[in-house]
Amino acid sequence: MSFPRVIAHRGAGSLAPENTLAAFKMGASLGHTAFECDVKLSADEVCFLLHDDTLDRTTSGHGPAGAHNWSDLSQMDAGSWLSPAYQGTPVASLADIAHFCLPRGDYVNLEIKPSVGTDNTTGRVVANSSAQLWGAHSERLVLSSFSSVALQAAQQAQPHLARAHLFHMLPRDWHTHVTALACQGVVLSQHLVTQAVIEACHAHGWWCASYTVNEWDMAQRLFGWGIDHIVTDEVGLFKP
Ligand code: G3P
Ligand code: MG
Repeated sequence: MSFPRVIAHRGAGSLAPENTLAAFKMGASLGHTAFECDVKLSADEVCFLLHDDTLDRTTSGHGPAGAHNWSDLSQMDAGSWLSPAYQGTPVASLADIAHFCLPRGDYVNLEIKPSVGTDNTTGRVVANSSAQLWGAHSERLVLSSFSSVALQAAQQAQPHLARAHLFHMLPRDWHTHVTALACQGVVLSQHLVTQAVIEACHAHGWWCASYTVNEWDMAQRLFGWGIDHIVTDEVGLFKP
């Protein structure tokens, strides 16, 4: 993958409100050009950025995020929970992120994060919306997910968009899942990474990334083993 080695997690979501445009701008101000963010669907199928199933931790809203229309979500405050300095920061739509990143030439890892029971629809709609927004620049985009169902829906909708399988546990048949979904990459929790796993990815022709790598010694070990990318909250420690 042509992505930079360091990918800023949730925008630069440890220094500014995660998964908002403010977080992307913070990362960009530090020189970052590659960003991960979490994408789900509103009730009226607009793609927007949020990590949790519910609104309560990171917005002024309450309850399941996917139950609200975008017209409601777009009025919520996604910044006050972190700091009064970010009061009034809006929830970001996928279109907001595309309009920020495309002119800059940034690389974006969209993690498809379906609300419960919406894996298929979320995979399809995120893929279709991404293809429309990124157009001829889709080589700067990769869709990832823990959900095989969401990845399969994305594959069927927009097969040309790069996909990566996320794992927080490694099933015995992990190669089979990645092969079946014709993924180009694998993104592993740092606790799963061994040199053998990285070499197995490379032998299959897949790049290998790890999340969420926030310690210098761990990053050095992973790069020494041949990891291709790290996803990090420590956007100041790990230079672009
Ligand atoms: O995409 C890597 C990482 O973001 C996956 O975990 O829970 O932070 O979305 P999470
Ligand atoms: Mg994520």
